[in-house]
Amino acid sequence: HRDLTGIGQLERHEILYLLDQAEQWIELNRQSAKHVGLLTGLTIINAFFENSTRTLLSFEIAGKRLGADVVNMHAAQSSVKKGETLIDTAITLNAMRADAIVIRHGSSGATQLIADKVDCPVLNAGDGSHEHPTQALLDALALRHKLRERGDSAEDFTGLTVTICGDILHSRVARSNILCLQAMGASVRVCAPPALMPTGIDALGVEPFFDFGDALSGSDVVMMLRLQSERMAGQFIPSEREYHHLYGLTKARLDHAADDAIVMHPGPMNRGVEIDSEVADMLDRSIITQQVEMGVAIRMACLDILTRAARGVEGWT
Ligand code: CP
Repeated sequence: HRDLTGIGQLERHEILYLLDQAEQWIELNRQSAKHVGLLTGLTIINAFFENSTRTLLSFEIAGKRLGADVVNMHAAQSSVKKGETLIDTAITLNAMRADAIVIRHGSSGATQLIADKVDCPVLNAGDGSHEHPTQALLDALALRHKLRERGDSAEDFTGLTVTICGDILHSRVARSNILCLQAMGASVRVCAPPALMPTGIDALGVEPFFDFGDALSGSDVVMMLRLQSERMAGQFIPSEREYHHLYGLTKARLDHAADDAIVMHPGPMNRGVEIDSEVADMLDRSIITQQVEMGVAIRMACLDILTRAARGVEGWT
């Protein structure tokens, strides 16, 4: 079976194929009758070892709209609390003959560990500070839609400068987006306080900035990330007020970016910390709500494509 553990495993043409496949599901999701029977008879398990609103619900909705039986395992209410290991949990899920398993876990590499133990496709719904591939794919889809709405018919992001600002050190969203945006031709800048910038980040081909104003200058897209205080035990944590002063996206600061620069945020947002409501709610510039909408369509495309082999349907392009 083939898994989706990270953007790093995808070729550029596979990313474009996933985005193109998701288009049909955007259309379906906007209708009142939203169900098809593509995955009828299949069982999908969402095993979430960390909290989630968007990813869990959109994977559940995606599976159900495709006709699959979807069950959710919340680690807090599972036998993980009784000391069961991740590998034993994986073997247990496998014995139930799931047709796809979606995993969110606090440890980088947990998804791959499970993928190596089970017989069905495994989809990474975020593993530690490693990758969150479906987030990067939905971000790319939302951005492409916004650009097309403005009359840009480009298939990819060649010529676009994207600044990702926030807790780059702990962010799986940043890593997956860097890989995905670069595969689609964008130039990527990252901006963070020194303590939250990974050493050697230049090796990924991004341009690091410590000054937000400098990073924003000439940026066509600004992607804001929250401070992941749950991953900062024992580390320097800037106060929220200090962080907002230096790195918060205010309307005045957005004026440093290109005219009509697009604002993105994967959520959950901490309004007044990394982003002001005045910016987050700008209908013409912010695509934060559209990102959530595209999340369902992208996850439908991923579930369809990854279960094709088991359904005897031609797989990837
Ligand atoms: N963006 C994202 O992964 O949100 P959730 O943590 O709510 O799933």
